[in-house]
Amino acid sequence: MNIVEIISKKRDKQELTAEEINWFIQAYTAGDIADYQASALLMAIYINGMNRRETVDLTLAMVASGETLDLHDTLDFIVDKHSSGGVGDKTTLVVLPLVAACGVPVAKMSGRGLGYSGGTLDKMEAISGWTPNLPINKIKSQVAEIGLVLAGQTASLAPADGKLYALRDVTATVGCMPLIASSIMSKKLAAGSDAIVLDVKIGSGAFIKTVEDGQTLARIMVNIGKDAGRKTVAVLSDMNQPLGHAAGNGLEVYEAIQALTNDPATPADFWNHCLKIGSYMLVLAGRADGLSAAEKLLQDARDDGSAFEKFKQMVAAQSGDLTMVDDPSKLPKAGFIADVLAETSGFIQAVDTEKLGYAVVFLGGGRVQKTDQIDPSVGFVMPVKVGEPISAGEPLVTVHAADQAGFERAKQSILESIQIGGEKVASLPHFYGVIE
Ligand code: URA
Repeated sequence: MNIVEIISKKRDKQELTAEEINWFIQAYTAGDIADYQASALLMAIYINGMNRRETVDLTLAMVASGETLDLHDTLDFIVDKHSSGGVGDKTTLVVLPLVAACGVPVAKMSGRGLGYSGGTLDKMEAISGWTPNLPINKIKSQVAEIGLVLAGQTASLAPADGKLYALRDVTATVGCMPLIASSIMSKKLAAGSDAIVLDVKIGSGAFIKTVEDGQTLARIMVNIGKDAGRKTVAVLSDMNQPLGHAAGNGLEVYEAIQALTNDPATPADFWNHCLKIGSYMLVLAGRADGLSAAEKLLQDARDDGSAFEKFKQMVAAQSGDLTMVDDPSKLPKAGFIADVLAETSGFIQAVDTEKLGYAVVFLGGGRVQKTDQIDPSVGFVMPVKVGEPISAGEPLVTVHAADQAGFERAKQSILESIQIGGEKVASLPHFYGVIE
């Protein structure tokens, strides 16, 4: 087989065979195809798409590119969650300890930032010393001991996704349904999950912009899960504004700790989101009969402190500095913190959330090149939501930048991202349905 022929076929809108897809994935994983050729194929797929059969074949080829994990000697039932990516989405940091504190052990493999969307590992690494690099035997012993592990995708699980994910991040080929579906589901299948809760983000800060496309992506992934014999549920949630208030790695850890400690400053949308995702996890794991019983368990695990305790146990087990968790003011601090003020009075009408996400990346909180180092201290806090009033001169967003030049650049793009107008608009819905 020949990579140039495969690229030309997809460029010319033809269907790729299972053999061609398998060959590409194996050869790229083995290092026999150059990044520039893989990038060309990704762009052709981005532009011309893949049908359901090609997407399933791509997913299975990615699973077969490496080992698969089986934790069933340690856990009876493995429940997992995955978000399709957004701005300010720190749900995993809160949901995992909540669910684990309710008696359902979780061993999750998470990823890094992708394009303008943050990654759980980058967020957790704002806690000094915390490491996601755990060998399989440590993952097993930790989940057996404390019921909670948050690990990086090990190089041996779906390695094709690891390589393609990093390439897509820097070649503008992220927001594409077959690529997102195969990326997410290959990792979930390789990690041996019995049940998967998918959080499909929709809106200006998500890779999927419309409810219709979100439903399509959710169905593709639920079908892949079903074909592979896993219980799969997809929750469609809004990403037309950041989730919660904070975006940026250390700032999001701070907000996650607020949620886990029942701090009254916890943004309501973020807490409700955690309850929804966590409830489906508990129901799929058979820990609760229904969503409201599950919510009650989760609320109790927050209120009695057991979820926060689980988070701390996980941080300690993975070499993180617990003093930063006990006193989050010790999390990395940016050099220049200042408010961007509203320039006019009115109502927040719309938010270009992708642009806000890129503001975090350009502050240093994400990667422009594969090798970029992340600055955990930068980002922003935006306490206002679409539909809320604001007066000229009031703080709109607080920017955490490395220096004043960074602040000025971010300020410009923040002012361009947030539309204020005289007409009152409705607040945004938080969910757009569930596909089971
Ligand atoms: N999350 C993933 O794991 N992969 C994608 O492609 C997008 C979001």
